[in-house]
Amino acid sequence: MSRTWVEINRSALRDNATALKRWSGRAKLMAIVKANAYGHGLVPTVQSLRGLRAVNWFGCDSLDEALQIKALNPRQPVLVMGYVPLARLKEALRAGVSLVAYNRETLSAVGQLASARYPAKIHLKIETGTSRQGIWPADLPKLIPLVQKSPHLQVEGLTTHYANIEDTADPRYAMGQLERFHHASHLLESQGVRPQIRHTAASAAALLYPVTRFDLVRTGLALYGLWPSSATRDTVLANGGPQLKPVLTWKTQVAQVKALPKGTPVSYGLTEKVKRDSRIAVLPVGYWDGFDRHLSSKGEVLVNGRRAKVLGRVCMNMTVVDVTDCGAVRPEQAVVLLGSARRERISAEELALRIGTINYEVVTRINPLIERRLV
Ligand SMILES: Cc1ncc(COP(=O)(O)O)c(C=O)c1O
Repeated sequence: MSRTWVEINRSALRDNATALKRWSGRAKLMAIVKANAYGHGLVPTVQSLRGLRAVNWFGCDSLDEALQIKALNPRQPVLVMGYVPLARLKEALRAGVSLVAYNRETLSAVGQLASARYPAKIHLKIETGTSRQGIWPADLPKLIPLVQKSPHLQVEGLTTHYANIEDTADPRYAMGQLERFHHASHLLESQGVRPQIRHTAASAAALLYPVTRFDLVRTGLALYGLWPSSATRDTVLANGGPQLKPVLTWKTQVAQVKALPKGTPVSYGLTEKVKRDSRIAVLPVGYWDGFDRHLSSKGEVLVNGRRAKVLGRVCMNMTVVDVTDCGAVRPEQAVVLLGSARRERISAEELALRIGTINYEVVTRINPLIERRLV
């Protein structure tokens, strides 16, 4: 029995995948499960999605994640989007996973390692303006011979990633990236390289701009029922897009309840004193678990469906909350850190706003050692 745990709503996850697939038309859906499935737990997420018709691919960042996915689900294709050290490429080919490649070193190494039994399936990533991973289109002519030289290296996909879709309603920069992607695609085609799967869209692009969907969309955040931004949500919903359902609820339980007289300081540094005679609850959760220290004196949790404010500093493994207005509170009872209880809801967006980050970071930073329970 864990004292803090994350509940994953399996049907919400599956419904989101189905709704995203339907909204994306003919494009296939890749479920992005990197970063411990955005904090939702890689294993329960893959277990919940495998076999679902809407999900055609899994996408992850590292080879280790890909091996875990393959072990759970050997038949569905997996794309490793992040860096794989050259020393591990052989292992990647043997596992049958597809790899994003964007430099000479990787292309030449996989070309040499690929065999009839273990072919290399590569998705070439084009630099179109994110200035992160990717090959400049101008460098393609130098790399094409490397690809053509190896009979067992297959350019399965062609890809890029947008820099500025979530944060703006102005698509001009993204459309410039799209244009450069088309240019790279034509250039490859003129040299006889014809990837079967072209893909550029993560959640926001897939939800907002049909021209970015091509053959496949790589949805991460939206799959978990979260929106890349409020602007994305408002535009998509105004256009009749899918109502996404949050998948994750993070809970803990009360370790101790006690009274504190008015004026008593709470927690390290004596940074906050209770302003009235108060009842407090000590929760066995802290910044080590991913309950951010910036929530000190600011955050709220749900006790009996009512908001209870964090008092003083969040500690490594404990947090104190004010339960004076929360009705009868007993040790052991469950408390919601993120999610709904009765009519109240603490969203990942609310937590993100309080600590100056984005919902992506709030959920991915929930400590992976915390138990994930499918409900
Ligand atoms: C290359 C790539 N594709 C897709 C995604 C999924 O993005 P989102 O969670 O916004 O759907 C990411 C996430 O960072 C990414 O880096």
